[in-house]
Amino acid sequence: MKGKFIVIEGIDNAGKGTQSVLLAEYLRSRGFKVLLTKEPTNGILGGISKAALNKELNLSDKALQLIFCADRAHHLDTEIEPAMQDGFIVVCDRYFFSTLAYGFASNINYKWLRSVNISFRKPDLGIYLDLDPKTSLLRAEKQVDGIQLFGNVEKISKVRQAYLSIAKEFHLKKVNAKGTVEEVSQRINKIVDKFFNIKDN
Ligand SMILES: Nc1ncnc2c1ncn2[C@@H]1O[C@H](COP(=O)(O)OP(=O)(O)OP(=O)(O)O)[C@@H](O)[C@H]1O
Ligand SMILES: [Mg+2]
Repeated sequence: MKGKFIVIEGIDNAGKGTQSVLLAEYLRSRGFKVLLTKEPTNGILGGISKAALNKELNLSDKALQLIFCADRAHHLDTEIEPAMQDGFIVVCDRYFFSTLAYGFASNINYKWLRSVNISFRKPDLGIYLDLDPKTSLLRAEKQVDGIQLFGNVEKISKVRQAYLSIAKEFHLKKVNAKGTVEEVSQRINKIVDKFFNIKDN
C-alpha cells in the first residue's frame, strides 16, 4: 500500500508535538507503519532556520522563508516521499501551513509566500488544532524552553485568524485543542478512524 501523509498544525502550544506522538502511537497500535517527523527538520537546513528564529543568525525575511522551503523540499524528497513509497503513514508536526499562517501575521508579502509554497505536496489529512491565544500563553508560562515566535495575545490572534482561513481553504480538519491531552487525542483519533475507516473492536 502507498502511505498517507498526515499533517498537524496550530499556533504555538496548541499541542502539536504532544498530539503527534500520541497519534503515531495510536496508528502503530492499529498496525500501521508510522514515520513521525516535524518541520523545521533536525537537518542542517532546519538548523539554519531555527538559528534564525532564535536570532542566533541574521537572515532577511525572504531568505528565511526560502530556507524553510529548502528544508521542506529536502524533507519531502529524502524522508516523506520515500517513506510513503514504503507504505508508511507519515505524521508531520507543522508543514507549509505554518509558513503561511506565521507569514500572514508578519510583514512578508503573502502572495509571494503562497506562490513559493503552493506547489508542495498537499497532505492526505490535515489536522488543525485550534486554541485561543490566552490558553497558548498560559501553557507557554508553564514551560521553560521552546521557541516563542509571537509573545502577545494580539499577535497570536493574528496567527490564529490566518490559520482559521487557511484551514478552510485547504480543508484541514479543525479540532478544539482545549481540554485535557486525552480529550484532544480522542477528538483526533475519531477523525483518523473515519479517514482510515477504522472500526472499534
Ligand atoms: N491539552 C493540553 N492541556 C494542557 N497542557 C497541554 C495540553 N497539550 C499540551 N500541553 C502542554 O503545553 C505545552 C506545549 O505543548 P506542545 O509542545 O505539544 O505544543 P506545540 O503545539 O508543539 O507547541 P510549539 O508550537 O511551541 O512547538 C507543553 O508544556 C505541553 O505539556
Ligand atoms: Mg511543538
